[in-house]
Amino acid sequence: PVSLLVDCDTGIDDALALAYLAGQRHVELVAVTATPGNVDADQVARNTLAVLELCGRGDVPVAIGARRPLEVPLVTTPETHGPQGIGYAELPPPRRAPEERDAVGLWIDAARARPGELTALVTAPLTNFALALRAEPRLPELFAGVVLMGGAYNHQGNTTPTAEWNTHVDPHAAAEVFAAFAGQPVDRLPIVCALETTERIEMRPEHVAALAAAAGCAEPELLRPEDPEGTRSRASRPLVRHVSDMLRFYFEFHRLYDQGYVAHIHDVFAAAVAAGTARCATRAASVHVETAPGRLRGTTVADFRGLWGEPPSARIVSANHPAEVFSDVVRSLGALAAA
Ligand code: BDR
Ligand code: CA
Repeated sequence: PVSLLVDCDTGIDDALALAYLAGQRHVELVAVTATPGNVDADQVARNTLAVLELCGRGDVPVAIGARRPLEVPLVTTPETHGPQGIGYAELPPPRRAPEERDAVGLWIDAARARPGELTALVTAPLTNFALALRAEPRLPELFAGVVLMGGAYNHQGNTTPTAEWNTHVDPHAAAEVFAAFAGQPVDRLPIVCALETTERIEMRPEHVAALAAAAGCAEPELLRPEDPEGTRSRASRPLVRHVSDMLRFYFEFHRLYDQGYVAHIHDVFAAAVAAGTARCATRAASVHVETAPGRLRGTTVADFRGLWGEPPSARIVSANHPAEVFSDVVRSLGALAAA
């Protein structure tokens, strides 16, 4: 079994990652916490609660932490994920409210209560994680593992020419997190799923059709580039319908940036790595996050060769297997939707 503490900024690909994790029998979702990023923290929490309820996991605690990045003003991205963060999907409003308690305290208490047992997964800006590390510097030793989605170590950003979104939103938090891990034994370093490998997890309409078929939807789930914008799914299974309505928005966004009618589902890959279901190779490196104001803020640089003479602070994913990820995602989301 894998016991996960998840911090996310739900977000279309975060929502798919949560649904994927909800469908993994061997995964215990200990708690899911909200960091502002794709949308503000309250909307992240609403989306997270709604997605968990949709997946039959209304029992998982959800809490809010920071409401803004450590040092820079919050930016959100309705153009990427839609005004509510979940594309064209209209999820039933959640029946629950978030926990009263603060997400950062929840992480620390959970890690202290179960030393060596929990894996941390962050698919959002690292604000909450940096605050948790400030309050409990032993977290790197308390966690069984840490998996992060963020950065672009080939310097091909998706937000600025060199910066990836999660690191762009809170570069100071990312710098603090890597500094906190520097010098840890290599097997304790965070596994980092950055753009050069997450953009290979490119979802296409045929994957949605395969998902609908796996869920046993009687009618074909047609997602075509020529469909008018905003066309809604008619799938009979609610999970397939909502996932399809989220993805249509994501497809249209990616098409705007000339990447084709596809969607990079970054956070699903990070979730599959954290769940231990996705194979990957990693390389240890000392990571620098540029925090100085200017064009390079949010840029991530990895020293793989020890040229800076600093100990490694991360294990950066260097190879992954997209076809395996898709068959796993289609199978598990299909089974969950049919349940
Ligand atoms: C990351 O940015 C967000 O928009 C996505 O949810 C993902 O976590 C990719 O750069
Ligand atoms: Ca995210």
